[in-house]
Amino acid sequence: MDLSLFSLKNYQNNLSNGSVTWSSPSNIALVKYWGKKEHQIPENPSISFTLDDCKTITELNYQRKEQVEDAFSFKVYLDEEFKPDFHPKIETFFKRIESYVPFLKEFHFTIKTKNTFPHSSGIASSASGMSALALCIMSIEKQLNPGLTDSDFIKKASFLARLGSGSACRSLEGDLVVWGKHPEIEGSNDLFGVKYPYKVHDNFKNYQDTILLVDKGEKQVSSTVGHNLMHGHPFAKQRFEQAVDNISKIKNILETGDLEAFIALVESEALTLHAMMMTSMPYFILMKPNTLEIINKIWRFRQETGLPISFTLDAGANVHVLYPEKDAKQIYEFIKTELVAFCQNGHYICDKIGFGAKQL
Ligand code: DP6
Repeated sequence: MDLSLFSLKNYQNNLSNGSVTWSSPSNIALVKYWGKKEHQIPENPSISFTLDDCKTITELNYQRKEQVEDAFSFKVYLDEEFKPDFHPKIETFFKRIESYVPFLKEFHFTIKTKNTFPHSSGIASSASGMSALALCIMSIEKQLNPGLTDSDFIKKASFLARLGSGSACRSLEGDLVVWGKHPEIEGSNDLFGVKYPYKVHDNFKNYQDTILLVDKGEKQVSSTVGHNLMHGHPFAKQRFEQAVDNISKIKNILETGDLEAFIALVESEALTLHAMMMTSMPYFILMKPNTLEIINKIWRFRQETGLPISFTLDAGANVHVLYPEKDAKQIYEFIKTELVAFCQNGHYICDKIGFGAKQL
C-alpha cells in the first residue's frame, strides 16, 4: 500500500498551544497476532473484539516551542504521578512516527494518562495507551490540516498506533477489528486495523468478557521478545497459515452464529499462542497453575451444562472468559462461585464488547 496517504507535507503552523483528550479501549484477539516483520508488519492477520470498560484516557497538552530544536520534548504522568520510566517507550514511538507527523518536534508535550483498570493488573495497557496517544496526536494534525477527512483520520490514527504497539491499531473502532491482509476480508491490510465489514450474528452482540486476574505481576517475557522468537521458530510457517485459515473460518462463524465452532476456534487460538511460546528457543511459559485450573473448570462446566462458555488468553496468565449475553446470568454465577477463587486477591474485571475510542 502507498504510504504517501500517511505523509503530511503542507500544514498550517499557526497552532500555539492547547489540549486534546481521547479515551481508547483495550481489545482481546480471537485470532492472535504473534510474530512480526520489520516496521511492525504482522506475520499474519488477526481479529479482535474491542472492549468497553478497560480503557486508557489520555490528555495531551501541547505548547509550541519558542525555538525548534532537533529533539522531542515531553513529560509523562500516570494518575498525576510523573513517570520518567515511560520516557523510553514514548521516545521510541515518536521516533517511529516522526516522518508521518513532522510537527512533533515543534511542540513541548505534557502527556497525562490514566487507565480504568488497575495498572498492576497484568492487563497490557499498550493497546489502549498507544491508541489513545496516537488519536491525540491526530487531533493536533487535524487542527494543522483541517481538510483531513474522518475516514483518513481514523486510518492514520490506527497506522500510528500500530507503530507504537501492533495490537493498538485494533482498538480505535468496534465491535470487531481486523488487522493484517487477508484475501477474504475486503480492505484488510498490514498497515492499520479495519472495522470488520461483514454481517455479525446476534449471538455475538454484546458478548461478555470477564477477565480473571490470575497474576498481576510484571510479565517475565515481553510481547516484543515473544514476537521476535517467531523468527526461525520451527512451527512458524504452519502457525501463520493456520491464522489465515482461522480468519476464513471465523468469517463464517460470525455470520451464522455457530457458538460451538466459535468456542473451538477461539480456545485453539489461545492455546496455540501459548504453544508457540513453549516451543520457541528459548522457551517460556506464561500460564500459571491457576490458569490451568480455570481452563479445566470451564471445560467441565461446559460439558455439564451445555452452556457456551469459552476462554481466551493473551500473552500472560490471566484468563478472558467469553460468553453470550443471553447466558450471562448463569455463567456469571458460575464464575463468581467457582472461578474467582483462582484469581489473585479474588480480583476480576467484568467487561464486554465495545465500540471504540472517543474524543472527550
Ligand atoms: C498476544 O501488540 O503487545 O496480545 O507490537 O510488540 O507491541 P507489540 O506487541 P503487542 O502483541 C500482542 C500479542 C497478543 C495477541 C494479540 O493481541 O493479537
